[in-house]
This record gives sequence, C-alpha cells and structure tokens, in this order.
Amino acid sequence: MTEIMKEKKTYYITTPIYYPSAKLHIGHTYCTVNTDALARYKRMRGYDVYFLTGADEHGQKIERKAAEAGVTPQQYVDNIVAGFHSLWQLMDISNDGFVRTTDDYHVACVQKVFKKLYDQGDIYKSSYKGMYCTPCEAFWTETQLKESGGVCVTVLCVRLRGHEQDTADGLEDLCVSRSTFKWGVPVSFDDRHVIYVWFDAVLNYLSKLGYLSDDDSMFKKYWPCDVHIVGKEIIRFHTIVWPIMLMALGLPLPKQVYGHGWLVLDGTKMSKSLGNVVDPVKLVERYGVDAIRCFLLSEFPFGSDGNFNNEVLITRINSDLANDLGNLLSRTVAMCEKYFGGTVRKVAGTEAIDTELETMTNE
Ligand code: ME8
Ligand code: MG
Repeated sequence: MTEIMKEKKTYYITTPIYYPSAKLHIGHTYCTVNTDALARYKRMRGYDVYFLTGADEHGQKIERKAAEAGVTPQQYVDNIVAGFHSLWQLMDISNDGFVRTTDDYHVACVQKVFKKLYDQGDIYKSSYKGMYCTPCEAFWTETQLKESGGVCVTVLCVRLRGHEQDTADGLEDLCVSRSTFKWGVPVSFDDRHVIYVWFDAVLNYLSKLGYLSDDDSMFKKYWPCDVHIVGKEIIRFHTIVWPIMLMALGLPLPKQVYGHGWLVLDGTKMSKSLGNVVDPVKLVERYGVDAIRCFLLSEFPFGSDGNFNNEVLITRINSDLANDLGNLLSRTVAMCEKYFGGTVRKVAGTEAIDTELETMTNE
C-alpha cells in the first residue's frame, strides 16, 4: 500500500489587536470568544489553524493615558497587556499567537514596509498646511504650524491614488506619519516622524508570521489570511487602507474580512472611551466561563448589534443551561439509573450514519 502524505489545509484567522488604553470589556471578549469558536471548529475539521490576537500599543491615545497615569507609555501598556493575557486565559481562548506592536520583530517589519513603500514612490513627503487629514484627525492651520515651530509642515503621505480605482472612489491620500508626538514606530530614515498607528497596526497580521524577516516560513505557510474578524467600525481600515497597502507590497489580499456587530448598553455602544463597560472577569466569577462563552456565542446573531443587560444573560443561562440542558441531563441520568442500572454500555457497532459523519468533508 502506498502511503500518501497529504499536507493539512491551513486556516489563518485573526481578531483586531485591541488598544491597551484601558482594561478590555465584554465587547472585546465577545469578538475574541467568537473567533475562538471558529478556530476550534476549523481545528476539529482537521485544518492547520493559526489564530492570532494581540495588542495595538502605539499612538497618541496611549501616550496621553500614560502621561495621565504618570508612567512611561511602555510601563503603561505592559501593565494593561498583562491583563489581556490573563483575560484570554480565563476565557479559555486557544490563540496560537499574541502580537504586540512594541515587539522588536513587529517594529522592524513596519519600518521595512514603510521604507519599501517610500522607495517605490507610494509614500511621499508632502505639506498638509491648512488641510484637514481625516485619518490624522487634525486640521493643520497656519497657527498650529507656527506654534510647533514648523515641524508639522512635512508629513509623509501614502499614495492611495492609482490603486483606488480597484477599491473605492474619492479617496484622499492618507497621512501615514505624525510628528506631533513620539509614541510610535520611528520612520527609519527620518526620526522626527513616527508612523501612523493604523499603518503600524494592520501590519501585525504579517509581522507575526515573520514577513520580511530572516525566517518567513510562517508567512509562506499561512498568508493570505482566511478571515480577519473585526468590529464593524473598523471595516473601512480593513477593506480600503489594508488592501491598498498589500497591493503596494505585491501581496495577495485576505480572503475575507468579517465585520461583526456591537454589544450595546441601553442603546449606546459599549466603549472604553465612554466607560459604559461590563467587566467579563466579574461575569465569569459569578456565572462561570462556559456559561459566559455560551451566552456570547448564542445570544446575538454575529453580524447584528446586541443589547447587553443582566436580565438577558440570566434568562439565557436559566432557560438554556439550567432548564433545557440541565433537565436533559437529569432525565438522562435518571433513566440510565432506572433502566440500565446506572451503567453506560458499549455501543453495539458502527452504523452507516457514523461513517458518513466521520468522512464528511464539506466546510
Ligand atoms: O480598534 N461590541 O482597537 P479597540 C462588540 N486597535 N465588539 C466590540 C465592542 C462592543 N461594544 N467594543 C469593542 C481598535 N469591540 C484597533 C484595532 S486592528 C489592526 C486594530 C471589539 O481596542 C470589536 O471587535 O478599539 C472592535 O472592532 C474592537 O474590539 C476594537 O477594539
Ligand atoms: Mg475602538
């Protein structure tokens, strides 16, 4: 008999890398638990899965938070990211990798990509004087430029025009560097600039696989990504900016970007900046991790927003788990006691349906 070696099909799945500006809440947990379920499912189906999550640690928001807390940005993120790890452990998340944008391999990758795009003319130096740059979230007025001693006159912009026909109309070139704060990946050939945090962040999907490093075997194995799972508010970055960057690099695009809905609290999106958040750790302490995972996986259709409150949670736990599943278990055990003397016997044999289930290959 000839033995045929078949390579497993790969499956690369990611969550957004979350900002360590504050502790993660049930919204982030919702995304990660759902992504985890998909990853586990694919593993069970025999795929060689790489499931990546991580932390998006640069940018002005973090720099400010750290200043408020009276610590360095690095100390600030180290502390919060430690909390990410313990939360994912608590939630039973089976991620294969965890990327931090302050990790050396990531910084090196971002600098190389930036340089490459600059050298090939996709990024150019330009003046933003008096012009609004949406992704930079700033108007550059005469006064601001004077106040800052003119350092903002030169910003680096990535050339979106030329690629845009394939993606969307009416795009402005994107400002991809900042010179008004320090907490970011420095532009290797001009350290007055740090790289725009979104340009930096999306590259996590490549850097963790060793793209442009000495060992890019993981990149060769897993890229293109099968699916980026993201919240709907960041679909734009993942379906316009990210593909344009990939095209500029000559790389294949992700096969799918899936935008999920938000958990809302009294009609408002739960968010770190608003502070209207529910702490997953408290819920797990109270109800147990499986009940919370079950709730997050079953209560809301994955593409829609879902209204979160304790009543919905408790009702779901009581009706599905305690009542339905609990009842089923208790009746099964009772009948097993009553009719089979409390022992579970070996099944007689394999039926056609068993083989069919085992050999099923559809996704
Ligand atoms: O946007 N309901 O990070 P972030 C459901 N660092 N999901 C929610 C949610 C809610 N109320 N709130 C947050 C960033 N999420 C960037 C991402 S990726 C290259 C960079 C989830 O900390 C949802 O998945 O603001 C959302 O997209 C993500 O957390 C945003 O987390
Ligand atoms: Mg956000």
